[in-house]
Amino acid sequence: MTTPHHNRVDVLVLGAGAAGLTAALSIPKHLRVAVLTKDPSGGSTRWAQGGVAAVIDDQDSIESHVQDTLIAGAGLCHRDVVEHVVTHAREAIDWLVDQGVAFTRSDEAFHLTQEGGHSHRRILHAADATGWAIQDALDRQAACAENLTFYHKYIAVDLCVEQGRGARKRRVRGCHVLNIETGEVDTFEAQAVILATGGASKVYRYTSNPDGASGDGIAMAWRAGCRVANMEFNQFHPTCLFHPDAKSFLISEAVRGEGGLLRLPDGTQFMSGFDPRAELAPRDIVARAIDHEMKRIGADHLYLDITHRDPEFIRNHFPTIHQRLLELGIDMTRDWIPIVPAAHYTCGGVLVDLHGETDLPGLYAVGEVSSTGLHGANRMASNSLLECIVYGRAAATHIAESWTETPSGQSIEPWDASQVTDSDENVVIAHNWAEIRRFMWDYVGIVRTDKRLQRALNRAQLLAREIQDFYANYRVTANLIELRNLVVVAELIIRSALKRKESRGLHYTLNHPDLSKLPEDTILRPDRDR
Ligand code: FAD
Ligand code: SIN
Repeated sequence: MTTPHHNRVDVLVLGAGAAGLTAALSIPKHLRVAVLTKDPSGGSTRWAQGGVAAVIDDQDSIESHVQDTLIAGAGLCHRDVVEHVVTHAREAIDWLVDQGVAFTRSDEAFHLTQEGGHSHRRILHAADATGWAIQDALDRQAACAENLTFYHKYIAVDLCVEQGRGARKRRVRGCHVLNIETGEVDTFEAQAVILATGGASKVYRYTSNPDGASGDGIAMAWRAGCRVANMEFNQFHPTCLFHPDAKSFLISEAVRGEGGLLRLPDGTQFMSGFDPRAELAPRDIVARAIDHEMKRIGADHLYLDITHRDPEFIRNHFPTIHQRLLELGIDMTRDWIPIVPAAHYTCGGVLVDLHGETDLPGLYAVGEVSSTGLHGANRMASNSLLECIVYGRAAATHIAESWTETPSGQSIEPWDASQVTDSDENVVIAHNWAEIRRFMWDYVGIVRTDKRLQRALNRAQLLAREIQDFYANYRVTANLIELRNLVVVAELIIRSALKRKESRGLHYTLNHPDLSKLPEDTILRPDRDR
């Protein structure tokens, strides 16, 4: 073991996806920024396929993008936030282009594709690997930025909070962070901390997300006293690949946008029986329809068919998907693609204002970790990367504008590992991971009931006690940190779902199938809802 380090920076950014890197690159160059990632292969950003929504076409309008977002959000979007994000979309695209993102063009203009819920073609994309193009461009910019220092394989454990005394208010002071390679817990002290840790879809057994989507930022903010909102709204993407050798591979909604049809195994189309927008209805409707049909006929998957389009068009528009499917023996120009819904996006998260600031002064949350009010009860496709860029820039601007050279207050206590030993029972961690993800899928999935939710809550509480006991007695590891966060997030989702006595957007329960009259956010407060 080496000695733990104490690092002092101006701004600490946890996470280096679209949100974290946008924020880090937008912070003025005279401030020293540390950027931490727990996993160098990255979060969800790299895997985004469809694109970024923005009003570009002359026939399109800001009001139309606002309306589509409000409709998808089923009465819970905050109109001021939606207008704010949508009106800043063009600026966000220009910024991405300046960073070197090469969006697909047709002649000189951006090529715009179509996705569910959008009434116009307004999705900018880099073929079907938009996230890859964005992550790559931002990584390259970040590598040249002299005020940024990267710490890869560092996983944040908990935020450090100054409790406030006299004139000094309670505020964030930094973070305890496990250096995964040395096993030491280091301290990072900073005047502002930005959570950009992504979503929590790993809480479900089947997901389109990479392994690190364990909701760490949401759990850390909750433990630090921040409110979280709308955690019951987990988005299930309708079309993830169903294949024994392909974990978490998405078939972009743009495939449906370009004419892809959903079919039962016997070829029957069914979507128009569920919604007049058929395959282009918002995701909650399409995922529920697929789930309903799968249960009705007892199938473990259905199919997506785009074989009626020109093979050349398919290969050009969906090169990544086409290639990956070929590796698995499926030629999408000739074969139907086997698909199932899977957990894809965490619409709720840490409650923030228009600057991305949380309840705890100095602590910001940007990207999928946050709940800004943009998505309401259901996120519209390709609005997430947009939100990452708009809020990443907004948080950086707010930090710069409110910067004062404050004398440091109480110093942060170093991590105390004197009472713990190495665990000889790591099987408990693996077992509990699997158990949480299974009961969340079975009881807190696409269709819910009060009884299933209550069952899930009982299990989550039992596991939370066991995991806390483990955490108190054994040296922390990356798996244990994620598990501790996962169970917190599971409980937040279940509690939020139990509070919502209606079916709205992504939350559908057989006990309360109708809409309530007064749409309200579900807000959980640590001082009341633990
Ligand atoms: P992420 O990109 O997930 O990054 C999280 C970062 O936080 C990582 O660097 C990770 O290492 C770090 N981290 C996490 N926890 C810790 C910790 N405890 N300590 C230190 N570091 C930590 N959205 C769209 O708008 N358009 C799309 O086309 C689209 N397609 C998608 C396709 C797929 C397959 C998936 C999974 C998502 C897609 N989304 C899409 C959603 C979108 O990609 C994500 O919402 C967005 O990329 C999230 O970005 P982020 O910066 O918030 O987090
Ligand atoms: C997709 O390409 O279907 C994902 C788009 C999104 O999640 O916004």
